[in-house]
Amino acid sequence: MKVAIIGTGYVGLPTGVGLAELGNQVTCIDREPSKINALKEGKITLFEEGLEELFHKNVKAGRICFTTSMKDGVENADLVIIAVGTPPHPITKEADMKYIHAAATELAEYLRGYTVIATKSTVPVGTGDDIEMLISKKNPTADFDVVSLPEFLREGFAVYDFFHPDRIVVGANTKRAKEVILELYKPFKGKTNMLFVKRRSSETIKYASNAFLAIKIHYINEMANFCEKAGADVYEVAQGMGADSRIGPKFLNPGPGYGGSCFPKDTNAMAYMGRTNGVDLSLIEAAIKGNDLRKKQMAKRVLNMVATQKTPKIAVLGLSFKGGTDDCRESPAMEILNEILTVPGPKVTVYDPKAMENAKKLLGNKVQYAKDAYEAVKGADVLVILTEWNQFKKLDLEKLAKLMKHKRMVDLRNTFRPEDVKVAGFEYVGVGK
Ligand code: UDX
Repeated sequence: MKVAIIGTGYVGLPTGVGLAELGNQVTCIDREPSKINALKEGKITLFEEGLEELFHKNVKAGRICFTTSMKDGVENADLVIIAVGTPPHPITKEADMKYIHAAATELAEYLRGYTVIATKSTVPVGTGDDIEMLISKKNPTADFDVVSLPEFLREGFAVYDFFHPDRIVVGANTKRAKEVILELYKPFKGKTNMLFVKRRSSETIKYASNAFLAIKIHYINEMANFCEKAGADVYEVAQGMGADSRIGPKFLNPGPGYGGSCFPKDTNAMAYMGRTNGVDLSLIEAAIKGNDLRKKQMAKRVLNMVATQKTPKIAVLGLSFKGGTDDCRESPAMEILNEILTVPGPKVTVYDPKAMENAKKLLGNKVQYAKDAYEAVKGADVLVILTEWNQFKKLDLEKLAKLMKHKRMVDLRNTFRPEDVKVAGFEYVGVGK
């Protein structure tokens, strides 16, 4: 099948490469010439485990190409996938639809023959109707259907998730459109759950899933606070809860709060949709409020450790919003750091295995950048772990302790076992124990 994908970000690019690997002829379109030029030169524009080799393989096989021209990408496509950003509006926090609307309006004039337009971007309920209207207005004779095809790819695992989906949700209102999507996902037939639902249900499923997961994380973070006061261990509690198949063990890891490009944005957008539809979504509102507060509380946890010092040296490990990605958007690490940096005094040195470049764009010269974890902790008064990178688990605690001025650790991802850290002489604060 000939597929055009509009947007080459964390959703568009892995989806494009994955669909090429399945044998489709894919054209990735992006209006940003620097991204397209890099991709044309064989340079991958984002870090995603396993993506680079699949990208090279499919470029070499001639199954994927890149262009800034909407015309070149769309005019021969059987399926056009919209995967552009829907960033939060700065004031209302509703999903900003300007890129979606621009893409729909622009692609309309290049449609030739029957084409399915699918939205992979997370879009408010009713967007499919809006896209339909925009295209028909611009090109009244166009023969097309609009379907909702939400993505559930986790950053860092996008390639794995693409090939091993828990479910594929298709919001299609016509038989013709359903058939095109069935053809696209033929390789998954019998291997995964394919759900055909109303387009508006499909658009809601994406928000409802992300909001539910955000609430689950917020819940375990509240339990972590409780366990700290009550003398319980949140991991034992999570294990006991997760063994109930109705609850499940996943997404019960306590930490500094959820972040990333999806959960904060999608919970806010869902809450906005609740308000505009006159529906009480107070559970989601509570998770948003609690998650914002959590990052402030975690910053306090760090500052309390060095409260007696005027100019403490703080070493921070981990900047991305979670392990396995270079993405710092809405990263709890960034927000905790910014909170710490509003207080006069602390000198902060940071290190992250993959996110240094993205972090520099956000933090500038407010912090110092180390080349590895050991350099970051040299002479530090406290070591703070903010992202759950596996390589941090392998750090030599004795070596860290020797390099630091004061042996103190605030481990907001519970990277180490308190017993081990204490043996190495650290004063230790984790989460939920
Ligand atoms: C999420 C959804 O999981 C995915 O299905 C959707 O398509 C996009 O949004 P992603 O943003 O990549 O994916 O990250 P995810 O792995 O879900 O983690 C989100 C945040 O929650 C991270 O900050 C992570 O550290 C935090 N988290 C996750 C926890 O604090 N505890 C957990 O148990 C799980």
